[in-house]
Amino acid sequence: VPQIATNVTYQTQHVSRLKRGQVLGHGGRFRGCTVWFTGLSAAGKTTLAFALESYLVDRGIPSYSLDGDNIRFGLNKDLGFSPTEREENIRRVSEVAKLFADGGIVCLTSFISPFRKDRARAREIHEESGLVFVECWVNTSLEICEQRDPKGLYKKARKGDIKGFTGIDQEYEPPDNPELTLRAGELSIDEIVQQIVSYLIQRSIVS
Ligand code: PPS
Ligand code: MG
Repeated sequence: VPQIATNVTYQTQHVSRLKRGQVLGHGGRFRGCTVWFTGLSAAGKTTLAFALESYLVDRGIPSYSLDGDNIRFGLNKDLGFSPTEREENIRRVSEVAKLFADGGIVCLTSFISPFRKDRARAREIHEESGLVFVECWVNTSLEICEQRDPKGLYKKARKGDIKGFTGIDQEYEPPDNPELTLRAGELSIDEIVQQIVSYLIQRSIVS
């Protein structure tokens, strides 16, 4: 990747993670991390992320959701759905998620994020900075997603009115080794939120 800006020097902030943890939320310790949801359109990414966000905030743990549809209204409104644009979408979101996590917030991202290498890069960006990254595969079958079709997008894609729709005429690469696989086609939202929370307890994010 070419470095376009020259004459830039990294500036180190003075506030430690320990200090940030002390001023942020219940428990007084640093919990910044990213929970990264990936899966097909209509798999349940947004629903799960928003439910988990409520669960955490209700318990005094700062959490913030970045959602694919929403981010495409603002930060990434210049991007479409070609593989290159999806890559740039995920690259930007990975950097933003890292900033939220570094700020002490439990950042929840709900993007299809169809490509393995882009998710791997998101993980690297976090782990290089000593931040926990939890990849959650929202493993709902294409059949169920297409039956649900809450936005009517699969129908449009099948008719050829949307080109490059994930799972129809563009690829989704499932995670090889996600921290969590979520059976969102079979279990309830509450059951899955509990599954994620149990994992976050193990990682000392939730206590
Ligand atoms: S990606 O692949 O991560 O860059 O996509 P993302 O930013 O998550 O945006 C996905 C949402 O955009 C809508 N949409 C499409 N999805 C997939 N493929 C195509 N071609 C497409 N066009 C529009 C759709 O509402 C997706 O939201 P979710 O919540 O996944 O259904
Ligand atoms: Mg969504």
